Amino acid sequence: MPKKRPIILDCDPGQDDAVAILLALAAPEELDVLGITAVAGNVPLEKTQRNARILCELAGKPEVKVFAGCAEPLERPLFTAEYVHGQEGIDGADIFEPVMPLQGQHAVDFIVETLMAAKDDSITLVPTAPLTNIASAFLKEPRIAPKIHEIVLMGGAFREGGNVTPSAEFNIYVDPQAAKVVFGCGRPIVAMGLDVTHQVLGTPPRVKAIGDLGTKVARNVQGMLEFFNRHDVEKYGVEGGPLHDPCTIAYLLQPSLFQGKRVNVEVETESELTIGETVVDFWGVTEREPNVNWIHTADADGFYDLLTKRLSELG
Ligand code: BDR
Ligand code: CA
Repeated sequence: MPKKRPIILDCDPGQDDAVAILLALAAPEELDVLGITAVAGNVPLEKTQRNARILCELAGKPEVKVFAGCAEPLERPLFTAEYVHGQEGIDGADIFEPVMPLQGQHAVDFIVETLMAAKDDSITLVPTAPLTNIASAFLKEPRIAPKIHEIVLMGGAFREGGNVTPSAEFNIYVDPQAAKVVFGCGRPIVAMGLDVTHQVLGTPPRVKAIGDLGTKVARNVQGMLEFFNRHDVEKYGVEGGPLHDPCTIAYLLQPSLFQGKRVNVEVETESELTIGETVVDFWGVTEREPNVNWIHTADADGFYDLLTKRLSELG
């Protein structure tokens, strides 16, 4: 592996995707962000691609390539989450029309082209959204699979239960057919589900510590997390909202913050009651082959230390 890990960040910003983007762009020594691909999810595609560009400009990195991908899930109508993230997806941040261009190429074509041009086992995919773009790339060009080093994704739920239905987490619920393709792709997968992200809470002191950095980036992150927190604090009765998506980037930067177990995970795509559930064989009660490193534990203080330190180096 090269010293800098080449990644494609596939996202639907979303305040927590926004923080994931900032954390990735704050780590130029370790991560080579080949491109950011936007997909419909928390808000429609028009807004997720715009938001990704807002974040790049905020990070002072307008040279990063941002691509727009799929506007709808593979088979189901789009289900969005303005009720969590606000009408713009990154409410709480400064919203503006970015100057940096959106790339002309479709995100799925960018993913396929980049992987096909790469060496085997070389590129890490980091999806923090419904898996429509990534699954579409596999469906379009199955030969991309060996090029992937690892997929480090945010999605799914097991012990914690779901956040959209009693059993389904948002990213998987929105496009279960896509998730089935990705979980079945045969490449190493690290999954950050709600079991772990619900341990990484943006409590008021943690959010304040970021705000106290005093930079424009810090002010925007504080604004976004304060907005984002209102929903989950009320829903779960906890002290702060779970910062789901940045767990993926934190894992790439400091894997020792997380503990997981190699298990089999399958995605329910049929049942009306449990569609989008990740069926995690945590105790190995089936003969199904492990396909996922299911992350179940995080060092939350360590995570926020890492995040705060890296954000202090941006802007
Ligand atoms: C996931 O869904 C979205 O609302 C968040 O951005 C995160 O990716 C959490 O369920
Ligand atoms: Ca997301």
